[in-house]
Amino acid sequence: MAQQQRPAPTEVRRVGVLGCGVIGSSWACHFLRYGLEVVAYDSAPGAEARLRARVAELWPQLEQLGLKPGAGINNLSFASSIGELGQQVALIQESTPENLEAKQQLLAELDAAIPAHVVIASSTSGFPMSDLQTLCRRPERTVVCHPFTPPHIVPFCEVVGGAKTEPAVVDWAAQFFQHFGKEVAKMERELHGFIGNRLQDAIWREALHMVANGECSVADIDKSIATGPGLRWAIFGPCMNMAMCGGEGGMARMLDHFGPSLKEPWTRLQAPELDDQLYRAMVEGTDEMLAGRSMLEVLQERDELLIRIRKTIDDYRREKTKQVAD
Ligand SMILES: NC(=O)c1ccc[n+]([C@@H]2O[C@H](COP(=O)([O-])OP(=O)(O)OC[C@H]3O[C@@H](n4cnc5c(N)ncnc54)[C@H](O)[C@@H]3O)[C@@H](O)[C@H]2O)c1
Repeated sequence: MAQQQRPAPTEVRRVGVLGCGVIGSSWACHFLRYGLEVVAYDSAPGAEARLRARVAELWPQLEQLGLKPGAGINNLSFASSIGELGQQVALIQESTPENLEAKQQLLAELDAAIPAHVVIASSTSGFPMSDLQTLCRRPERTVVCHPFTPPHIVPFCEVVGGAKTEPAVVDWAAQFFQHFGKEVAKMERELHGFIGNRLQDAIWREALHMVANGECSVADIDKSIATGPGLRWAIFGPCMNMAMCGGEGGMARMLDHFGPSLKEPWTRLQAPELDDQLYRAMVEGTDEMLAGRSMLEVLQERDELLIRIRKTIDDYRREKTKQVAD
C-alpha cells in the first residue's frame, strides 16, 4: 500500500481529539467551528455522550464567535479505539491528564497505532516534548501545542518540538494552528512552562507571597489586575504596554526612565541585569512589533479599545444585575 502523505497545513480536513475533558472538548469545539471534521476518543465510560452534550451546550458560543464555511455539529464522530482515531486524520490533539508517565505511555501507544504521517500534538501545560516523546518509535512527528483555556475562545497557543521532533513538523503544526484560528508562538527551544504559563506563574507567585505575608487581600490582588493592567494586556502585551509608559519615546525612553527601578525591592523574583544586550533586545523587539507604526498610533488604538472593553464589561454586568433584580 502506498504510504499516506501529510496534507499541506492549510488543506487539512479532518483531525483527531484524544481526551475529551475540559480542554479536549473545547478543542473539539474549536476545530468544528473552523469547518473541520473531528473524530474524538476518550477511554472513560460515557465520554461520547458527555462530549456531544458539551458541544451542543457550547454551540451557541461558537455561533457567536462566527462559524466558518462547512462548520457543523454533525462533523463530530467518536472512535472506539486509539487506532481508529488515527485513520484519515492529519493531526491528533492529545489532551489527557497532566501525568508524565501516563502521557509517555499513551503517546507511545498512539505512535505505534497510527500512520506515520499523522502529527501528534500535546496540550501539556508544562512537560517538554523531549520528556514526553521518550518511548515513541517515531518521535519526529510529536509536538507540543499548549492552549489556554478555553481554546475555543482564547486564541493563543505555543507550538514547540522536542529534541527528536523534526523541525519541519514544528513548522507544519504552527502553520496548521495559525490557519485554523489560533494565535501561535512558534518556539525555537523548549522552556519549562513555555511562555504564557511562565508569565502567569510569576504573577501568581507574587500574589501568593503577598497573601502569605498579610500584605494585601485576595480581592485587592484580583482588582489590581482585572481593573488595572489586565485591561490593557488584552490589547497589547506587557512589553508594548511598558513601551507606552515612555509615551512617544517608546521602549527606549521607558528603559532610560524606569530601568533603574528594576532594582527596587518590589518583587520577590530576582531582577535581571539591564545590560546593553537586554536593552537592545527590548527596543528592537518593540520596534519589530510596531512594524512601522508610531507610538502615537498604538497609544490611540490602546485607548479606543480600552474604552470598548470597559464598556463591554460594564454593560454585561449592568444587564446581569438588572436580570437578577427583575
Ligand atoms: N484545564 C486547563 O486549564 C488546561 C489548560 C491548558 C492545557 N491543559 C492540559 O490539557 C490536558 C488535559 O487537561 P484537562 O484539564 O482537559 O483534563 P481533564 O481531566 O478534564 O480531561 C482529561 C480527559 O482525558 C481522558 N483520558 C484519560 N486517560 C485517557 C486515555 N488513556 N485515553 C483516552 N482518554 C483518556 C479522561 O477520561 C478525561 O476525559 C493536560 O495535559 C493539561 O495540562 C489544561
